[in-house]
Amino acid sequence: MKVAITGANGLLGGEAVAQAAGAHQVLALGRGSCRLPAGRFTWAAADLADGRSVEAALLAFGPEAVLHAGAATDVDGCERDPAAAWRTNVGGTEQVARACAALGARLVAVSTDYVFDGTAGPYGEDDLPNPRGVYARSKRCGEEAALLLAPDVAVARVAVVYSGRPGAKSTFATQVVEKLTRGEPVKAFSDQLVTTTLASSGAARCLELLLETRYRGLLHVCDATVIDRVAFARRVAERFGLTGQIIPVLTAEVKLLAPRPLRGGLKVERAASLLRNRPLPLDEALDRFHAEWMSRSAP
Ligand SMILES: NC(=O)c1ccc[n+]([C@@H]2O[C@H](COP(=O)([O-])OP(=O)(O)OC[C@H]3O[C@@H](n4cnc5c(N)ncnc54)[C@H](OP(=O)(O)O)[C@@H]3O)[C@@H](O)[C@H]2O)c1
Repeated sequence: MKVAITGANGLLGGEAVAQAAGAHQVLALGRGSCRLPAGRFTWAAADLADGRSVEAALLAFGPEAVLHAGAATDVDGCERDPAAAWRTNVGGTEQVARACAALGARLVAVSTDYVFDGTAGPYGEDDLPNPRGVYARSKRCGEEAALLLAPDVAVARVAVVYSGRPGAKSTFATQVVEKLTRGEPVKAFSDQLVTTTLASSGAARCLELLLETRYRGLLHVCDATVIDRVAFARRVAERFGLTGQIIPVLTAEVKLLAPRPLRGGLKVERAASLLRNRPLPLDEALDRFHAEWMSRSAP
């Protein structure tokens, strides 16, 4: 099958390319040059914030299925530049959805737990979004762009993505490992309740949703455990056999530009009943994260 994946240099998109390459004819779309290890895929540079380039690349390739994982994900950066956030997260999704409509391609657009305000989580797919902050609002509008413009579409929400894959970008989970290994303390929010997503686990569900189901609408595809960030950091440390200081802090104590959902998290019962690749309990996700991490130093 011809499959296109946006955000291919990213945590989730990169995993999806690695998993789909070989089994499918894959076009990996990203900003600038490819930072992925070599594989059986074709790379195309295209800017989601430019009104045409992603749409043109998709129309030229002619995919039957598109995983849209590209986005402006720097939450505070979006707050500083709302116009760029809108161009990328809404305009970029509009481009992808228009191309899918023109091609008759199925679309899975990736979104976020931040569409909820974090007053009453964990949230199910039928709960009403109430996004706060530029990133959250632009992603919610991106969801609507995808749902309105692409006829065969699902929106896959993830949360707190992390990866141990060699070359994957730094995240809270990888910082916990790196800082504790160096003997440095780690600060973690004690008042943010979240679900987390190991990128390889979430990417497998996104691809299954895209290629093996006809499900339309919203689906929560993060992993299964709802946990606060201090407890998450402790579980990461335990799995890696690391001791050291994890310092609980309150969100309000840190000057962040964008608001953060506090009582967040996503319910995954629907994905668990629909998909073969079930949302992982944290123990299993951390076993896989550890294995990915160890492969970084393998010869
Ligand atoms: N990361 C999280 O914790 C998190 C949580 C909830 C939801 N999500 C959602 O999950 C999806 C995947 O994100 P991720 O976790 O894989 O984050 P990521 O690693 O930041 O990946 C996003 C990718 O989008 C690319 N991108 C940004 N602006 C672009 C532009 N104008 N044109 C083309 N590409 C552009 C980035 O390119 P560069 O690599 O060049 O910067 C990056 O490779 C997104 O929809 C995100 O909103 C992520």
